[in-house]
Amino acid sequence: MLSSPILVSLALLISLPLVLFLSQQLLPQFTFPFSPDADDLALFHHPTTSVVSPGGVFHNRFISSKPTQRASPSLISAARRLLASALLDDPLNQYFALVSQHCVPLLSFRFVYNYLFKNQLMSLASFSDFNLLYPSFIEILSEDPNLYERYNARGENVMLPEVPFEDFRVGSQFFILNRKHAKVVVRDYKLWKKFRIPCVNLDSCYPEEHYFPTLLSMEDLNGCTGFTLTRVNWTGCWDGHPHLYTPEEVSPELIRQLRVSNSSYSYLFARKFSPECLAPLMDIADDVIFRD
Ligand SMILES: *[C@@H]1O[C@H](CO)[C@@H](O)[C@H](O)[C@H]1NC(C)=O
Ligand SMILES: *[C@@H]1O[C@H](CO)[C@@H](O)[C@H](O)[C@H]1NC(C)=O
Repeated sequence: MLSSPILVSLALLISLPLVLFLSQQLLPQFTFPFSPDADDLALFHHPTTSVVSPGGVFHNRFISSKPTQRASPSLISAARRLLASALLDDPLNQYFALVSQHCVPLLSFRFVYNYLFKNQLMSLASFSDFNLLYPSFIEILSEDPNLYERYNARGENVMLPEVPFEDFRVGSQFFILNRKHAKVVVRDYKLWKKFRIPCVNLDSCYPEEHYFPTLLSMEDLNGCTGFTLTRVNWTGCWDGHPHLYTPEEVSPELIRQLRVSNSSYSYLFARKFSPECLAPLMDIADDVIFRD
């Protein structure tokens, strides 16, 4: 076990009511590879309707939840509830990773832990503040052809004055935040007041892809890498759903391929995997995924 007292908290966000039944199938088995690192890792689980706590590493970490829905601010709320619970759970929780049941790890949790704490901003090494030293991994993009429609999804200029269009950002809803930024998210009221307004244009309504990158770029852009550690494959997808990997596609080669990025960071997680991928993934877990 690592001697450092600093913990990484991994939040499993069960995002859609639709997949709950599947998540119940997934969870008990998913707890298995987590266990060896349990001392360094705390797992929180947010289901969307009543689900029996899977126990194990989720013991006492089953967050009471509310239903969530696509194209509504409920996914933001769910992520904030998870962050709040993980912040309160242990003051030593320093990193907060948000994933869903369709995200799979590409490397061991020991590797994830070491990777996060290895990637400190060396130029700031003289700062004693942990949160200045260790960046948050969240995608923050200002260029997107649909940005203007998405900005006005709640009505023309509704976001003003708190969120001018120039400050509106987009990025993956899966991120790893440091403690300071997790607190920024949980404490925020100013932007949440706007993002919680229901959309009038549901076709351009993706609140969770905008709230977190917009808030953190406004609050502390320099403390963020602008890069998510969760790989997603949008090739050939136009309907708002990324490529869903099927069991036939799962292979050691795919795992190795998904780790590689164009940035100086590599990917630690990937999505989206169908529930049926669990068996072939478990088959290669020890020899490929968790072998660093
Ligand atoms: C991405 O998805 C496309 C199909 O949409 C597939 O052909 C391609 O192999 C995938 N790429 C990776 C790296 O998995
Ligand atoms: C890396 O960049 C190339 C060229 O722009 C692109 O085709 C490829 O999809 C990128 N790979 C990843 C993992 O983003």
